[in-house]
Amino acid sequence: PPEAFRAVGSRRVLVLGEGLLVDTVREEATRACARHGGGVRHRPPGGNGTADEPFDLVLALSTAEAPAVVTAVRDEFRRTSGQDAIGDEGFVLAHRDGVTVVLADEPAGLLYGFFHVVRLGETAFDAARPAEHHRPAMRRRMLNHWDNVDVHPVMGQVERGYAGGSIFWKDGALREDLTRVRAYGRLLAACGVNALSVNNVNVHRTEAHLLTDRLGDVAAIADELRPYGIRVHLSVNFASPVILGGLPTADPLDERVRQWWARATERVYQTIPDFGGYVVKADSEGQPGPFAYGRDHADGANMLADALAPYGGVVHWRAFVYNHRQDWRDRSTDRARAAYDHFAPLDGRFRDNAIVQVKYGPMDFQVREPVSPVIAAMPATRLAVEFQVTQEYTGQQRHVCYLAPMWSQVLGFRPFGADGPSVADIATDADTGGAAERAVRTAADGGAHAGGGLVAVSNVGDDRFWTGHPLAQANLYAFGRLAWDPRLDPVAVLDEWIDLTFVPSATADPERLRRTLHAMMDESWLTYERYTAPLGVGFMVRPGHHYGPDVDGYEYTPWGTYHFADRDGVGVDRTRATGTGFTGQYPKPWSDVYESLAECPDELLLFFHHVPYGHVLRNGSTVIQHIYDTHFEGVEQVAEIRRLWEKLDRELVSPEVHARVSELLDEQLRCAEEWRDQINTYFFRKSGVPDARGRRIY
Ligand code: GCU
Repeated sequence: PPEAFRAVGSRRVLVLGEGLLVDTVREEATRACARHGGGVRHRPPGGNGTADEPFDLVLALSTAEAPAVVTAVRDEFRRTSGQDAIGDEGFVLAHRDGVTVVLADEPAGLLYGFFHVVRLGETAFDAARPAEHHRPAMRRRMLNHWDNVDVHPVMGQVERGYAGGSIFWKDGALREDLTRVRAYGRLLAACGVNALSVNNVNVHRTEAHLLTDRLGDVAAIADELRPYGIRVHLSVNFASPVILGGLPTADPLDERVRQWWARATERVYQTIPDFGGYVVKADSEGQPGPFAYGRDHADGANMLADALAPYGGVVHWRAFVYNHRQDWRDRSTDRARAAYDHFAPLDGRFRDNAIVQVKYGPMDFQVREPVSPVIAAMPATRLAVEFQVTQEYTGQQRHVCYLAPMWSQVLGFRPFGADGPSVADIATDADTGGAAERAVRTAADGGAHAGGGLVAVSNVGDDRFWTGHPLAQANLYAFGRLAWDPRLDPVAVLDEWIDLTFVPSATADPERLRRTLHAMMDESWLTYERYTAPLGVGFMVRPGHHYGPDVDGYEYTPWGTYHFADRDGVGVDRTRATGTGFTGQYPKPWSDVYESLAECPDELLLFFHHVPYGHVLRNGSTVIQHIYDTHFEGVEQVAEIRRLWEKLDRELVSPEVHARVSELLDEQLRCAEEWRDQINTYFFRKSGVPDARGRRIY
């Protein structure tokens, strides 16, 4: 809300430098000051400036002619850091002689510095605050939109979208009014996102044309987002040379095909000079790919990388490849193994501008999965890690489920053990780590390489609250913040979001709102886990739309997502000793930890092992009793969340937000009860073991 800009807007601001993004900073500051009584100047004061220039905040490019306070901050930064460069998107925030200074080498840094000051509010102007230097850990912080131009007969307009229609497309065409796209760019810049793909990874007929005759639509979106430092990417269909070019083949090694892509890409860059690149889902869930021509994923990705290279573009080639036509009777095929089996052998074969985009887990965005072993298996490849902000398997934006704690856990996971790099280190492509961190990374990688950044599927649509559930906005915000700095504490990030989103009236008690939202959201991911599929086993959702429980919904289907529950036990044996051997895809120590029934973490037990219902967990409970306990507990927690919201003073949030959240909490409670009862009943009927506490099971 405009109120969040009060601290900046009530001050005397000077913005110095040239460039589109510097203009954006000026506009932002002007807008804030017009509202809150401050003022903005665009030109340096005469002469070299003096210490008593009448400014409270100076935002300056390091190349700009600037008053003495700015040069003093720059010199101080160089002296204390020993560095010359603040970094492409980085900025320094410091205080000097009563003036707050934001200094950046590039316009993008100034924009991020501006939003940092907004985020800090009054505290940004505290002269006692030590100087700060910020740079993003990930060079590319990207959202993928799974938006279709046409409404797809099964998937609707936004595949796995829970916030209404697309903000880009309507009735088979680009929206006429793109105001909202501009506002989206602003939102994303404020949390640090700098890249976005505009269409679904499943590229249907109409959408394939965005690459050629409908490229103008993409250019129009790029125009709206450019002032906020966001580059546009496009999902392309691997068979485009056939579908659009009339060629008889899309073989990546065929010269005609290569030339077709080179020409198509040249036209893209003529139209959108700062175009980011392509996103490709190939040979996955029915999408075309190189396999049809006897080629592999490196052949496919490299062909597109070569077409993009002259312009500095990148291809994001997705590793989500598995057999979705598996026979459920076939116990030798394990979907969890697929990405590694396809991609690990190709390590070292991908071009520098080909980024292999890996989902964080080996299956599919479940509430609990181990970290994908692919992330540790391709030291000579640029890897990007993919999250799902849209809550396909985590409550579909009808349930409160703050996902940042899960992402933070994934980013902090160390696949080679405590002394090795974290997932965030592997995905990091900017040289931001300290020397020690880099040395560790280099050792474990067997060579220095750049990572591919962070990517997530967006949760935004044309819904009035952007994300369906108003509290789901926190996930979007947190994704951007963690991509900027993976070490941030998710609870602190939530705090930032609360402060920026709900600026209560002077009479209301903001602490109360903060406490309530933390109580509702901090642990909501774990709450969701408790009332849904237990102990890492995953799925158990209604087939197709994936909302609500259906324990055997996928058990006899071709999708490779099974739990193997019988009267004696449940879980998937993925050990080397007796199972599918998936544990062997991890380096030590995890290959041994996951293999061992005694050492495997409880929360992943059923992902790695098939165990009897009486198996005693490390937490002392049996598997069956744990299932009952967590399901009763999960529902109680949802009831508590709902109670907290109902108790909240009405003036702390708008009536519209209050009503929407209340309505959704009713649904969350209903759905959680349904999960509890179906899961508990199913396992009681299978096992015959009663609940030790005699609670009601059907
Ligand atoms: C999931 C999702 C699909 C999506 C796919 C992907 O399987 O259900 O809708 O297309 O992931 O990531 O490509």
